[in-house]
Amino acid sequence: MAEFVFTKLAESVLSQTVERISELLMQEAASLKSVRDDVVLLQDELRSLKGFVKDADSKQEHDLRLRELVRQVKDVASDAEDVIENYIHEVASSYIKAFHNKSVRAQISFVRERIKVIISSMQIYGIASVAAGEAGTSSSMAELQRSLRRSSPNEEDKDLISLDESTRALTEELTKEEDQLCIVSVVGMGGLGKTTLAKKVFKNVKHRFDTAAWVFLSQRFVPKDVFIEILTQILGKDKIEKLNALKEHHLIELLKEELKEKRYLVVLDDIWTIAAWDSIKLAFPQGKKGSKLLFTTRNREVATSADPSSSPVEPRVLKVEESWELLQRKAFPRGGCRPEFKELGMEMAQKCGGLPLAVIVLGGLLSTKSLLDEWKRVLGDVKSYMNKVQSHQQYEGVNEILALSYYDLPYYLKPCFLYLGNFPEDSEMHKRQLVRLWIGEGFIPTLTTSGDTKQRSKEQVAEGYLEELIRRCMVQVDEGDDTGISGVKTCPMHDLMRDMCTSKAREENFAQIIQQNSTWIDGATITALFKYEDLMDKQQSIRSIFLHRAQSCTLLFEFFY
Ligand SMILES: Nc1ncnc2c1ncn2[C@@H]1O[C@H](COP(=O)(O)OP(=O)(O)O)[C@@H](O)[C@H]1O
Ligand SMILES: [Mg+2]
Repeated sequence: MAEFVFTKLAESVLSQTVERISELLMQEAASLKSVRDDVVLLQDELRSLKGFVKDADSKQEHDLRLRELVRQVKDVASDAEDVIENYIHEVASSYIKAFHNKSVRAQISFVRERIKVIISSMQIYGIASVAAGEAGTSSSMAELQRSLRRSSPNEEDKDLISLDESTRALTEELTKEEDQLCIVSVVGMGGLGKTTLAKKVFKNVKHRFDTAAWVFLSQRFVPKDVFIEILTQILGKDKIEKLNALKEHHLIELLKEELKEKRYLVVLDDIWTIAAWDSIKLAFPQGKKGSKLLFTTRNREVATSADPSSSPVEPRVLKVEESWELLQRKAFPRGGCRPEFKELGMEMAQKCGGLPLAVIVLGGLLSTKSLLDEWKRVLGDVKSYMNKVQSHQQYEGVNEILALSYYDLPYYLKPCFLYLGNFPEDSEMHKRQLVRLWIGEGFIPTLTTSGDTKQRSKEQVAEGYLEELIRRCMVQVDEGDDTGISGVKTCPMHDLMRDMCTSKAREENFAQIIQQNSTWIDGATITALFKYEDLMDKQQSIRSIFLHRAQSCTLLFEFFY
């Protein structure tokens, strides 16, 4: 399977390079005028190379030599792009154009030679060229464009299945009138629906409390940030600057003071360890009668050790019929599942082990497949993945289904998706910012709508990409955003999806995340970063560097191509 993924990414890199070069030929026509013929020839060769990569893909050879060839394809595609972009840059800042012309011609011809060598090695290897569109699973641009006209991606609320029982149980726990502060917990594995249940009940009961706050705890949360977040929700956003300036012990005192005379509800979403609770518990006083802390956690012990009297609520897994119901809603968002799909669908629903996350992601994937044969292929893929993991944990399958949703992405969405992994777990990914970053990275081609020649702006195309990721349930949308993509402001990702995303980004050598927990990187000595030992040893080139600064730590992101 690794080779399969590998060739898919190579295909994706190649397609992007070809598109990028087309764009440059149009946009930079003046700069490229004198070397236009060379660039066009290079582009043609890259196109034919793509045909070979598609065949390598369909052969799914498990062979080191093939793997090496595909690696060379990725390299040559990146080099081709670099050569042209560097040339444009140099010409723009130079008077002696002719000097650069000669050198770029030599470089292009060198890249073309390399492509020829790769193609002939592939031919020796029995790999033939496949016409574009014949092989592979990537959905076409036209399909994407059809999808852009579909309705709102967010139908989360009305899609909820079988939550009545646990909603009742949780509401009852949260509204009990105990004298003591009580810890209520929702427990279960990732993707079971803990956050979904907690959100639903939180909405319904928060008016019964004097004050209520919801905070998500990432695996590497910083206590100070948690206190600031809760206080901001209680005191209002305009206090944030003042709060930022306070020391941690002052924040604890302030929070205690705010809560102690109130009947309060604070949700700590996704608390992983007892140590995590120990690091923040001082800030939560007894409060008034009926005050509650709600934990959602994968670890039952966290809640029972924090409050031995707490009785956890565990959302149950979906029954096969319920999974099928949910799968249908996601796969056919406008209804109208045809009867011949039912048998295959039920079989796939069963493979999801009753886990809503697995069901919705598989449903999102199936929503892009309208033919019975395509469903059969997806079922085949699901089975082959599951067989590999049968001996492992009961629910290991969810990771396989998440990975399947990645493999199925069309080439133009792969880099956009991998890019998302570079936002920290607890950061808000803003649509506007994301769209600009994607454009800046060159992931978004200039697209012409089929049928007419109206140009869509890059922003619109990028929003369309995001919409497709949302429709595939790989990115979530905040509740209440029911006005389609234009209403989406932030785009959270389930943490299991994010884990898959970052691990794929690492595997594909697309991005690396370096976490600086203990060392503060001084802005003035940023060049010191480049002395970072492993960094330059391992990587030949760096495309972008991201620095994310949380309240109390600095995260550094590197993107390598
Ligand atoms: N009962 C349900 N019906 C439909 N979809 C659900 C249900 N429970 C969870 N989901 C969906 O599954 C995904 C994962 O749920 P989430 O609550 O984030 O899981 P957890 O917090 O347990 O990791 C979410 O996208 C959510 O919309
Ligand atoms: Mg959760």
